[in-house]
Amino acid sequence: MEGLKPKGKEPFKIEIKEVPDTDGDGAVNLDDVEYLLKHDKNTATSLRGNGDFRSDECIEFLKKADIVVTNPPFSLFREYVAQLVEHKKKFLIMGNQNAITYKEIFKLIKENQMWLGQSLNGKNILFQIPDYYESYYKIIDGKKYAFPKGVVWFTNLDVPKRNEELVLYKKYTKEQYPRYDNYNAINVDRTEQIPMDYADVMGVPITFLHKYNPNQFEIIDGLNRYTILDVAGLNNNAVKNHLHMTEIGGKSKYFRVLIKNKKVKK
Ligand SMILES: C[S@@+](CC[C@H](N)C(=O)[O-])C[C@H]1O[C@@H](n2cnc3c(N)ncnc32)[C@H](O)[C@@H]1O
Repeated sequence: MEGLKPKGKEPFKIEIKEVPDTDGDGAVNLDDVEYLLKHDKNTATSLRGNGDFRSDECIEFLKKADIVVTNPPFSLFREYVAQLVEHKKKFLIMGNQNAITYKEIFKLIKENQMWLGQSLNGKNILFQIPDYYESYYKIIDGKKYAFPKGVVWFTNLDVPKRNEELVLYKKYTKEQYPRYDNYNAINVDRTEQIPMDYADVMGVPITFLHKYNPNQFEIIDGLNRYTILDVAGLNNNAVKNHLHMTEIGGKSKYFRVLIKNKKVKK
């Protein structure tokens, strides 16, 4: 998906990227071009419309796709994902980590219809970009680099890490794992500190999702100013009373994913 093109007017054309000597006669000639066109190899065709992913033309292409791999516009992320789900597509797409906190996206993650891909496990790294890019983060050894902070893969393709169990070693104590002021769950500040022996609801950082194995944990909801999905039906009261759901002793935590450990019995 490249930048949007002006609507409609462009003539329909076929662009041939490369013509190999397909018939092996020692020369690249019209026979090779004819073979390429007939077999639809190495060709790219211009779209007739403006390339909006919501256009009928793009939807027809989407229907033909086995797997969609792209970097969609972040401002239309919810809509883009909804379209992929509607068309039951397998996908591997980039998005901002903050999109996890959107209600529609969080719901899909909770329902195991989408998860984080083999990303960078929450780390940010530099990406080399072409020399002609005007905006960049740094130049190292004459090469330009971008720093797309918090960009992760979202996918519904199997990822090996999703089957790996997180090894837990900490034991629950009241002192180390305080409760939120307005929500009945304990707070865990780091994923590796999830207590191994706690059966009830725990609030963990968003980066937990890089380690999430649905056989080990169940996602209950997300905790922000209010809960994301209102699973416990507390939002009306929280709004009315100006409560902040991640507060502990009056101090707010950042967004938390509410989980339960499926392997710990009460
Ligand atoms: C996150 S950028 C990806 C850029 C691309 N991967 C690249 O390296 O050039 C999203 C792209 O989606 C395009 N875009 C914005 N709105 C769109 C829409 N409604 N339909 C299709 N593409 C759109 C933007 O022009 C932009 O090029």
